[in-house]
Amino acid sequence: MKIGIDKISFYTPAFYVDMTELALVREIDPNKFTIGIGQDKMAFAPITQDAVTMGANAALDILTEEDRQSIELVILATESGIDQSKAGSIYIHRLLGIQPFARSIEIKEACYGATAGINLAKDYIAKHPNSKVLVIGSDIARYGLDTPGEATQGAGAVAMLLSANPRCIALEDDQVFLTEDIMDFWRPVYSEYAYVQGKYSTEQYLHFFETIWAEYQRKFNQPLESFTALCFHLPYTKMGKKALDLIIESAPVADQERLLENYRLSTLYSRNIGNIYTGSLYLSLISLLDHQSQLKAGNKIGFFSYGSGAVGEFFSGHLQEGFKEHIVTSQHQNLLANRTKLSIADYETRFKQELPKDGSTFEIDATSDPASIMLTGITEHMRQYIRKD
Ligand code: CAA
Repeated sequence: MKIGIDKISFYTPAFYVDMTELALVREIDPNKFTIGIGQDKMAFAPITQDAVTMGANAALDILTEEDRQSIELVILATESGIDQSKAGSIYIHRLLGIQPFARSIEIKEACYGATAGINLAKDYIAKHPNSKVLVIGSDIARYGLDTPGEATQGAGAVAMLLSANPRCIALEDDQVFLTEDIMDFWRPVYSEYAYVQGKYSTEQYLHFFETIWAEYQRKFNQPLESFTALCFHLPYTKMGKKALDLIIESAPVADQERLLENYRLSTLYSRNIGNIYTGSLYLSLISLLDHQSQLKAGNKIGFFSYGSGAVGEFFSGHLQEGFKEHIVTSQHQNLLANRTKLSIADYETRFKQELPKDGSTFEIDATSDPASIMLTGITEHMRQYIRKD
């Protein structure tokens, strides 16, 4: 039985920062951000968006009533969760109107979480072929103002509906994974911001990719040229390119050209959104599907997932007959086209805004955010979410 991604979509908030403007205010050559790091715009989450609302917004428009009745498992992968106890997926389950006899859980392992969610989903569907599983990766990447990580921030979510006989991409059982206890990036429970050893984290990403790729070849012997494209976790768009460069010389020139062009197409959304942590790898898949018109059923796509700390995984999938009818490209392009640019001063002011932590009541005007699902306040430490339709 084939199992995989039946539908996939992303959400990113309605505001962004232009990286050239940010570089000029920080007195940095803009080419460092746009070429050296490879980012043109950075999504900014207003105070009305968090991992729950972004995740729910990502799934909202791809689910039909039949999907809502068939979903038996809702998995939210996030490293910017809003509660140490309650799973954010429980709010998402309610906001999306999913039938009640479902499990809702939250998964954490840095940017790897959504890949862990997909593996859980596959196992569940193998035993319950009539059910569907909703897997969401949703995060706000924050390193702080005027820090080396600032240019690699971002915000957004990817929602994936997994099922048997998927209409988009069937996932193979060829996963190779690796765990090593390292401190490249982490966020202690008392900290709003991530701690990161920047250079070390990039070295570890590459070390994980090389090690896992070698093991994948030893186990499955799938030459690079058999892949139509490789999608990478993209903390910034240059990162995946560095990984691809490590292995690409082994392929014939025509295959190298195809893989490089498909890599470029897979990074277009990330280049304009930034790092969305758990959803990032799957945002690169959406970008490839939305921008590469020559993709065909049967094409093989490889995926490299990396979560600091660290866990990495490589796996593959095959595009399914008719997949183009199930991708929502215009919805994605409208979302990006309708964003508002923030001045750097406005971004800095909004960045410092905080929700109350002392139990006081806080209300936010529902018209301040065009999103369908948003946070409208906090009452007695309880977040108040609304769905506008
Ligand atoms: N024109 C063109 N390129 C320029 C330039 C200019 N004027 N000035 C600098 N550059 C280039 C540099 O040569 C460098 O390129 P290479 O990496 O190819 O050598 C690139 O721009 C970046 O320059 P620096 O290395 O000097 O940048 P930095 O030290 O200020 O920080 C960073 C870069 C380490 C990625 C930092 O932004 C950071 O810490 N980010 C957060 C951590 C991160 O994203 N790590 C990725 C791996 S961990 C992971 O994947 C998990 C996750 O999601 C966090």
